[in-house]
Formats: sequence, structure tokens, C-alpha cells
Amino acid sequence: MRVLIGPEGHGEVGDDELAELYAAPATPWLRVNMVSTVDGSATGESGRSGSINNHADKRVFDTLRRWADVIVVGAGTARAEGYGTARAPIVLVSRRAEVPERLRGAAPGRVLMATCAEAEHLADAREALGEEHVFVLGSHRVDLAELRARLVERGWSHILSEGGPHLLRDLVAQGVADELTCTFVPRLVAGTHPRITDGPPVDVPLTLHTLLEQDGTLLGRWLL
Ligand SMILES: NC(=O)c1ccc[n+]([C@@H]2O[C@H](COP(=O)([O-])OP(=O)(O)OC[C@H]3O[C@@H](n4cnc5c(N)ncnc54)[C@H](OP(=O)(O)O)[C@@H]3O)[C@@H](O)[C@H]2O)c1
Repeated sequence: MRVLIGPEGHGEVGDDELAELYAAPATPWLRVNMVSTVDGSATGESGRSGSINNHADKRVFDTLRRWADVIVVGAGTARAEGYGTARAPIVLVSRRAEVPERLRGAAPGRVLMATCAEAEHLADAREALGEEHVFVLGSHRVDLAELRARLVERGWSHILSEGGPHLLRDLVAQGVADELTCTFVPRLVAGTHPRITDGPPVDVPLTLHTLLEQDGTLLGRWLL
């Protein structure tokens, strides 16, 4: 892996340098990590991002998971990708408060839920995760700025979101994300697939911070 745009003085980028290249410029910091094909698809034929990511993307994915105090993920992604627990606690964002099957047996505090007061499965989520691990952050929609503040209050200042497309769009629309990290894998898949954002239009400028390359894969950091 090499640096195309970013701090000079790096030759081949090893794991320690990669962690330095992805250091947050301030805390608290909320970044969203996504992967896309060159033709803009967020999934491959399996309907998951697992069918488009590659070794270079996995290196960054693992680096960011090591960086994270907490992982925030949309319930749709947790369901589609079959999320299990991770080194850092996982916060599910869900309007309905439905806890995916694989995350139900987790130790207390390893899985949290951010939802709204009208959520269909609120009582069940409280039962499954523990009342103190379920945040009710609005009546009809989840206030993502309030979620960020709650996580920081708990001492989690390195916040990693792994999407998906609807959650990324909402984080950006509510002005809550500091950074998008995105890998562009050198593939075309055509077909009908989601992009890395979904939902009502937004128009948010990004500033390129760093661009890395490995075997034709481009790995970027953009600041919001
Ligand atoms: N390429 C990538 O980097 C990448 C990353 C992640 C996911 N994906 C792919 O994207 C697809 C899933 O897309 P998606 O758009 O459905 O993912 P998503 O944003 O994770 O899931 C949407 C669901 O998450 C909950 N949600 C999201 N934003 C919310 C908000 N602001 N407030 C309350 N709830 C919110 C809702 O769950 P409830 O229905 O429970 O209310 C909503 O139905 C899968 O195929 C996955 O593999 C790709």
C-alpha cells in the first residue's frame, strides 16, 4: 500500500503507519467507513459488501475497528451482514428496535440500541439488551446528534459507523459525521445494487484528506 495524497515520507505502508494515517485529527470524532465498486455499487452479487471488498479494504476495516471505542451500525446492515459482537460495543440504530437474532445472546453492554419512543419492538429490545443499553432518542425518528453526545458521555470518543447507506445519509443530513472513509475496489458489477448512500437527497461537500492505493484499490479519507 502506498500514499498517493497525504503525509509525505511513507514508502510501503505497514500496519503501524496505516493506523497513523487513519488517526483522528480531533476527539470526539465520528467517521463512517464504506466500500464501493468503481461503478458505485455498495454490494456485489451476494447482496452484501462482503462480495466486493478485498484485502486492502480489509486492512483498513481492521485498522478502523482497532481505532474504535464503539461501532454504530444501521439495523438493516446488521441484519444483511449477519453482525455478531466485536471487540468494541456495537450500537444498533433502528426505528423499529428489532434486535437481530445473532446479537441477542451478547453479554450485557456489548450491544446497545438507539431507537425512538414509537418503536414497535421497544419492550423486547429492553428485555434483550437491558434497559440502560437502549437509548430512546426522539418520538418518531432517532436524533443522531443526541446519540453521538450519549456515546461521548460514556467515554466513547472514537466513534466508527459501518453504515449502511440509509444511516450514512442520515448522519450526513443531520450534520453528525466528521469523516467518510471509503474504499473504491477496481471492479464493475452493473446490475441493481444500493450505492453507499440511500434516502432523500443531500448535497454535502467533502474535502479529500488522504488517498492510498494498493493493487488498483483506492482508499480515501474525506472530511465533512
Ligand atoms: N458497501 C458498504 O460499505 C456497505 C456498508 C454497510 C451496508 N452495506 C449494504 O447495504 C445494504 C443495507 O442497506 P440499508 O440502507 O438498508 O442499511 P442501513 O442504513 O444499515 O439500514 C437501514 C435500516 O437501519 C435502520 N436505520 C438506518 N438509519 C436509521 C435512522 N437514522 N434512524 C433509525 N433507524 C435507522 C432502520 O432499521 P429498522 O428497519 O430496524 O427500523 C432502517 O430500516 C446491505 O446490502 C448491506 O450489505 C454496504
